[in-house]
Amino acid sequence: MSTVAESYDRLAQGYDADYGTPMNRAEEREISRLVEPYTRGTLLDAGCGTGLLLDMLPTIAGYTGVDLSAGMLEKHKQKHPSRVAHRADAWSGLQKFHNIVSLFGSPSYSSVVEVTDGLRNRLRPRGNFFLMPYAAGRTKTAATGEHLVDAHAALWYDTSAAEWQASLKTIGARNVVVRGFNLLGSKRLLRAEAPLAHRFPDRCQYLIITGVM
Ligand SMILES: C[S@@+](CC[C@H](N)C(=O)[O-])C[C@H]1O[C@@H](n2cnc3c(N)ncnc32)[C@H](O)[C@@H]1O
Repeated sequence: MSTVAESYDRLAQGYDADYGTPMNRAEEREISRLVEPYTRGTLLDAGCGTGLLLDMLPTIAGYTGVDLSAGMLEKHKQKHPSRVAHRADAWSGLQKFHNIVSLFGSPSYSSVVEVTDGLRNRLRPRGNFFLMPYAAGRTKTAATGEHLVDAHAALWYDTSAAEWQASLKTIGARNVVVRGFNLLGSKRLLRAEAPLAHRFPDRCQYLIITGVM
């Protein structure tokens, strides 16, 4: 079993509780507003975890979740029993989708090339993507939860916005926008700092990367 799967199997039980603060809720409200346009047609939730995307937008029709962690998928099944979610590597596989969404760090457990090749292979023509890898400026202080173990130790936080841009250009992605997203604790603050996050994405906690194949 991969290290990622083992780590998230350990985290799964307390995962939703760890991310249940008012600050997390404010982030989620903002992200659900931003990701909503990427949910029409079939959708791959890449690294779906315990099903946050469905928690935020429960009526998404063409949903498929994949995750490496059986523990996270078990929680997903408890919360969303009628939804398709299975154990697989998000960035390999043959089925194609209109949209690929990968929230709150899920793309950062694979190399940039694995992720961008996955987008190229798994998106239908003119398919859209919405990715949230960790930004290079992420601080580990963001990961302070009761149940959190050192799942982040093996991660690299040094993939810059420019590296994502370059890799997406290589695969021919269009309309690519890479911006930053921060944990600031309220919808108003998140909105207020958005222009700064656009300008200094590598200083943020997450990147938000959108585009079309
Ligand atoms: C930080 S959690 C985020 C989960 C969920 N997207 C959310 O926002 O709550 C990262 C998840 O990505 C999964 N993951 C990491 N790499 C993956 C891969 N290559 N394929 C499938 N799942 C992956 C992990 O098992 C974990 O559940």
